[in-house]
Formats: sequence, structure tokens, C-alpha cells
Amino acid sequence: MLQTSQTAQPVVNRLVVIGLGLIGSSLALAARNAGLATQVVGISRRSSTLDLALEMGVIDRPEQSLAAIAPELGAGDLVVIGVPTLTVPAMLKECSELLSDQVTITDVASVKGSVMAAAEEIYGRLPPQLVPGHPIAGSEKSGVTAAKADLFKDHRVILTPHADSGESHVQLVEKLWQSVGAVVSCMDIREHDEVLAATSHLPHFLAYSLVDTLASMRDNREIFRYAAGGFRDFTRIAASDPIMWRDIALANRQAILSVLDQIMDNFSEMRSAIDTGDETYLMDVFTRARDARNHFGNSIDPKALQQTMSDKIINYKVTPGGVAQGDIRVPGDKSMSHRSIMLGSIAEGMTEVTGFLEGEDSLATLQAFRDMGVVIEGPDQGRVVIHGVGLHGLKAPTKPLYLGNSGTSMRLLSGLLAGQSFDVELTGDQSLTGRPMARVADPLAEMGAVIETAPGGRPPMRIKGGNKLNAINYVLPMASAQVKSCVLLAGLYAQGETSTIEPAPTRDHSERMLRGFGYSVFSDGSKASLSGGGSLTATRIDVPADISSAAFFMVAAAITPGSDITLRHVGVNPTRIGVINILRQMGTSIELSNEKEVGGEPVADIRIRYAELNGIVIPEDQVPLAIDEFPVLFVAAACAKGETVLTGAEELRVKESDRIQSMADGLVTLGIDAQSTADGIRIQGGQLGSGTVHSHDDHRIAMAFAIAGLRSAGEIEIIECNNIATSFPGFVDLATAIGLTISVETQES
Ligand code: S3P
Repeated sequence: MLQTSQTAQPVVNRLVVIGLGLIGSSLALAARNAGLATQVVGISRRSSTLDLALEMGVIDRPEQSLAAIAPELGAGDLVVIGVPTLTVPAMLKECSELLSDQVTITDVASVKGSVMAAAEEIYGRLPPQLVPGHPIAGSEKSGVTAAKADLFKDHRVILTPHADSGESHVQLVEKLWQSVGAVVSCMDIREHDEVLAATSHLPHFLAYSLVDTLASMRDNREIFRYAAGGFRDFTRIAASDPIMWRDIALANRQAILSVLDQIMDNFSEMRSAIDTGDETYLMDVFTRARDARNHFGNSIDPKALQQTMSDKIINYKVTPGGVAQGDIRVPGDKSMSHRSIMLGSIAEGMTEVTGFLEGEDSLATLQAFRDMGVVIEGPDQGRVVIHGVGLHGLKAPTKPLYLGNSGTSMRLLSGLLAGQSFDVELTGDQSLTGRPMARVADPLAEMGAVIETAPGGRPPMRIKGGNKLNAINYVLPMASAQVKSCVLLAGLYAQGETSTIEPAPTRDHSERMLRGFGYSVFSDGSKASLSGGGSLTATRIDVPADISSAAFFMVAAAITPGSDITLRHVGVNPTRIGVINILRQMGTSIELSNEKEVGGEPVADIRIRYAELNGIVIPEDQVPLAIDEFPVLFVAAACAKGETVLTGAEELRVKESDRIQSMADGLVTLGIDAQSTADGIRIQGGQLGSGTVHSHDDHRIAMAFAIAGLRSAGEIEIIECNNIATSFPGFVDLATAIGLTISVETQES
């Protein structure tokens, strides 16, 4: 008998599992072991299965039919239909005849459209008590003897509730799955069936087909004798239950046919490439596939699910005090990493990038270009090789380009894509969806682009292809490098000379990198201009460490007595060094050494030592030069003597969060007198206390408050630190290395 260890409070009253296959019996066993139900009832027509289930401790009570238990069931009881997909309708029919409408019903079938259609037909409408579900777990083994109590741990369960599914029923099903360790999410039914056709059903049919083809070859014994690891890995699932897969094939016919057609086209192209010796085609497909597999590897690996950013909220607890000492290199510059992918993709030839930032934002740009047919190798320890396709070689993506949290990706891409021959849609996460895009859509429209945005000029952006662009002379209404870069990138595709005039100097990485790719860009004071119709030549790019990431450790040293930190190979482009200028003005000792130019960008080692800080009035001309560094500079201001005043920084209100408000609120929570103003903030230096602050899903707010822990009187808890990975993967490790103590805690979302 498998051991029973009752550890939890029951979350359901009676759990009735119809069908004791692998999934049904594993759920019964997991629930029974953990005491999640007052009674676990197993229903199977075969008495031998019931005997086995009872003997193995999978169930408390065996029954041969639903009728035998139905009269006892009511609210709080849960019936799980765990039979093969095509048998689900028959079970639903029994449920409709025997169960009260108080009983919650769910199923575990791999196809959801057919379950819903059957339910609608049987009940005459979709019953509120029905909450369809699909655990993405299993193995090639089947039957009650394969039952595993931890089968669902850290695996996904997708629920596809319908519009009338009752709230309490949904909650009950969700709670049960969560209690057996699953990660539950909800999905639209149609999307579920399409996604599963591609990611689960198709691989099974490929495995069946491969094994069947090989098995029917004349000398099949010989073949299987030599079939090694690759064959074993690829065909493990061909040992799965034939009834289950027959049912899935028939129940999800449309979606499966559509992906089968696509893979057959791909096969026939590959066949002809092999036939004709088309090396380039084969290299392209294999490289693209390998890199896509590596890129998505984390989410494919079930163990990685434990760390999946979107499913769990990551909070930090920062222990007060600590030192700030060390000699470190922070990850690569985000702005340059984005641009290296964009320009490398539209250049002629192969561009090699080193020092690339493997953060979620720059990876979103990289994936977008892969989605447009560019072969990109890596990233592998910061090395990326881009096989450029030329200015007109991008291909129409088959789906919207998802840019996550990255405003830079969306704004720069909108310019680069406005002059293409194909339509494209740009989307992003919730934070990006709230950010203003009219600032780029307006000048692009002036150039002749056709772009639709959501109300209020927000994403998604739908860009129509095939429009001729005309050069413009654009006077930027705000100091924004993203807007400037967007217009210049569109200018590559426009007829004539496009120029931008900015109200204050902003980062000029686009201009410098374009020149590095051999494209001539003219800069004169606030004006930058280029003529369309040229071409970019592949180059090598060495991305220096990001001064915006370095800023966290600069402030760490600036606020902590006895500190001494050296930051290596940092980009010190004059349009980015506001943080150095401001900290120096506040009294910090900062030395630059090893100054050199790498690929047209100045870099240096930066040494920062503690000295007492004084509050200052931040000169407005420093605002665009330190734009991303203000959250942590506000922490420096909180530790300074006297008042620090910032004005002219309204742009901070439309970053990943409203950075003025996010910081003012957090500082006040920590006992600092901080008052936000329309375009800035006033901060009275004082003693940082302790408390819980919110990052508002903004990476830089989260990191700024982590640094504050060095001078706080008590513990600082920072809520929602997931997005730190957008710009600074490995932040906690480096922060720990220089002397901070941060504990990372996860919480269910
Ligand atoms: C960036 C420009 C800045 C900056 C952002 C990166 C760039 O944005 O805040 O993190 O790479 O061009 P704005 O152009 O909106 O100021």
C-alpha cells in the first residue's frame, strides 16, 4: 500500500474520480495522501481496477457507477471526469442525469472544444457547475499501477472556464489542483486546443509516425538495434496509450490538421533542400530551431517552472546594514544590446556581438527578429552572432511580435518596421500596454506610415506594410532617445534626408552604432540626420557594462561609510553620465581610469568611495543624461544632508512605472520626507527606516530600494521584484558579492 500522510485541511468535501487511469488515479492518490478530501471515491467499471486502487491506497471507496454515489453528493463535492476524451460526453450525460447542480464537475481531457460542445448539447447550455480543465502532466505509462502522487507537482494545469462557470466552482477546482502542487492558469478554449495541437498532439503523432515507419522497414530489428539516445528521447512518447491518442486526434481534428499541414510543408522544403544540397537553407533552419529551443528551454523544462517569473511573485527582504566593497563588472548595456540586434539584422553579412545583455528586454528584441526570419546564434555568455538579411530582407512574422516589458523594443521597432512591405503588430505586457506610443506613431504618420494604436495612443501598435515613407525634419517635443532613434530608423527606409532636432541631448547610441555599421549619420548640436536608401555593413560590437546598472552600486558606495567599489568596463558615453555628474556634485568621490574608446563608444573603469553627501538642486540639463538613474539617485538624496530638488523630469512619470510617485511613496513608507511635484520631487535627507515598499513591477524601483537597505534602520521588504530580470539578471548575486544581504522569497500570484 502506498503511504498515506495527511498534511492539509480538506479543500473539497468528497472527491469522486471517474476513470482510474494515470491522471485520475494520480490525482486521487495525491489528494488522499495530503488529506485534501473527506473521502476519495474511485469509479471504474472494472472491479479489478477498483481492487487494485483500494489496495494501493489510491482511493477510500470503490464504486462501479456514478449512480451508486450520486444521491450523496452536493455543494462542496467535486466530480473529476478522468476518462478518455471521446468517452467524456457519455460521462457528462450521466452527470446531467444524476448529479445535483450544486456538485462541481471538472474533467482532464486534452481537448476542450469537444467537451464544451458535448456539455452544451447535453445540458442545453453550458452548466455553471462545469469547469473544464487539463493537467499538462503525464507519462507514457498508463493505468492505476502508474499512479504517482507527485505527478502534478510544478506542472501546469489549464482551466478553461466558460462565461457562466460559477465562481465557487472555479475556485474549488483551482484550489484542488494548487493543493496537489500544480501551477494553475486559465485559457480560452479555442486557444487551448490550438496551442495543445502544436505543442503536445503534434509531437505525439510525429513520434508514432517515426516509430511506425521504422518498424515497418524490412530490416527493422537491425535498425532498432542501432537506434541510440536521440531516437530514444524523440520516441519515448510513442509508448503512450493508443486509445487516448486516437481520441485526441479525432476530437481536435481541425487544429491538428492545421499544424500537420504546416509541418508537412516544412518537411517537403527540407526534403528538397537536402535533395538539392541547399546548405544555407539547412543551416538556417537548424540554427533557428536550436536557438529557439535554447531560448524557450527554460519554460519547457518542468523544473524551471518553479522559477517561472509570471507565475510566482518574487519579493525581496533586505537586511539592514552591510558594506559596499568590491571589484565587479555589471551586465551589458541595454540600449546598445537592443540596437546591436536591430542593426545587425538589417545589415549585410554576419555581425558578432560580445557583452550582449541577456536580460528579458533585449531578449525580446532578439526574439522579434528571429520571428522575422533572421538567424541569430546565441546568446552564449554574452556572445551573439547575427546573420544579417539586409535592409529589405526581413520576413513577415506569423504572429504579433511580443515585446514584454520593453519600451525601447517597441518604439525603435515601430520606426524600423514602418517602411517594410508587410503588416506587423507589436504587443507587450501589462506595463508596456499602458505606455504612450503616440510619441512615435505621430512622427511616423507624418512620414507616411499607417499605424493604428489602441485608444490613448497605447499598444498594441498595428503597422501596415507597403507604404512609401518620406523624409521629415522632426522637432522632438520631448527629450527622448527612443523617439529620435525611431524616426532615424524609419529614415533608413525614407526617400531623402530625415533629421531630428532634440530639445536636450539624449543618448546617441543609435547614431554611433549606425556609423559603426558604415551608415553615414550627420550630427550637429541638437540635430541628427541621415539619408534613406543606403546599406549597413556587418561589424563587430563590444557592448560595455551598462552605466544604468552600475549606478546601483555607485550609489551603494556613495551612501555607505567605508565603501570602495570599482566597476569595470562601463560605458561612459557623455549622453549617459548624468549619474556621475550628480553624485560628484553631491560630494561623492568618483575616479575614472582605463579610459578608452571601444567600437565608437567611450568606456572606463569607475571607482567610487564614500564621502558625506549633501542635498543639491539637480541641474535640469542633467535630467536626460541620468534619466534611468533617478530612482537610485533618490535613495542617495534620502541619505544626504539637506534637501535635494529635482525639476524638469516629467518623463519619469511615463517609464515602466510612474517613477516619481513610486519612489516618493516608498521613501515616505521608509520614513523619509519626500514630496512629489508635477515634474520632479523634493527629498529631505534623513534616516531610512524599515517597511514594505512596492516596486510597481518596475525593475529600477525594486533595485533602488534594495540598495537603500545598506543605510536603513530596519528590514526593507520589496514587493514584486520579478522585472529585475528585464535589465539586470544576476542583480542579487552581485549585490551580495559587494556586501548586501537580500533574501529572495516567492509568493503565489
Ligand atoms: C532608451 C532611452 C530612454 C531610457 C530607456 C532606454 C533608449 O527612454 O529611459 O531606458 O535605449 O533609447 P526615452 O527615450 O523614453 O527617454
